[in-house]
Amino acid sequence: MSLKKVSKEQPKSFEFNSNSLDAAKKIVSKYPEGKQQSAVMALLYIAQRQNDNWIPLVAMKYIGKFLEMPYIKVYEVATFYTMYNLTPVGKHFVQVCTTTPCMIRGAYKLVEACKKKISEKENELSKDKNCSWMEVECLGACVNAPMMQINDDYYEDLDKEKTLKILDEILSGKTPKPGSYRGRLNAEPENNRKTLMDIKNA
Ligand code: FES
Repeated sequence: MSLKKVSKEQPKSFEFNSNSLDAAKKIVSKYPEGKQQSAVMALLYIAQRQNDNWIPLVAMKYIGKFLEMPYIKVYEVATFYTMYNLTPVGKHFVQVCTTTPCMIRGAYKLVEACKKKISEKENELSKDKNCSWMEVECLGACVNAPMMQINDDYYEDLDKEKTLKILDEILSGKTPKPGSYRGRLNAEPENNRKTLMDIKNA
């Protein structure tokens, strides 16, 4: 698993735009008086969405003030979870799950494909600055392992060749179809198998 890296280049200021501010106030209002700090994860997510999918340190400070909590506590949350990006990411942001079920089904072949097509190191922008990749913990699609997430879409049942093809399409401005790449509908069993006793379709 990768260590969280904080960008060396940081903007000087951050504040919520009106959409983010509305969303943040709505979320905070759901918590009982005195428990508003519990909204920190949601507010970090809102800040990330607003700021091209990454969270600068000034945004953490802003959220700390917004929720009347110490900056270090916001920093601790932001640096703990992989879904918060602390460095700029590409317009096409590839997250490869390398947790055990994906790992034993070949996740590191997907990592090899990312290194080949995007950049040798994770969290580093591709030459055209449009794409970046990183390893992440379980994305909840283990039954279709190995898999990766590109922006909001899941690509599942992958191998190295399929991953290379998907990345080629992404890098040439196309939008590959998300979902299973072994033709499964959602997480259905392969070969139309209905029960564990259905040996002939196993
Ligand atoms: S282990 Fe990869 S999605 Fe769960």
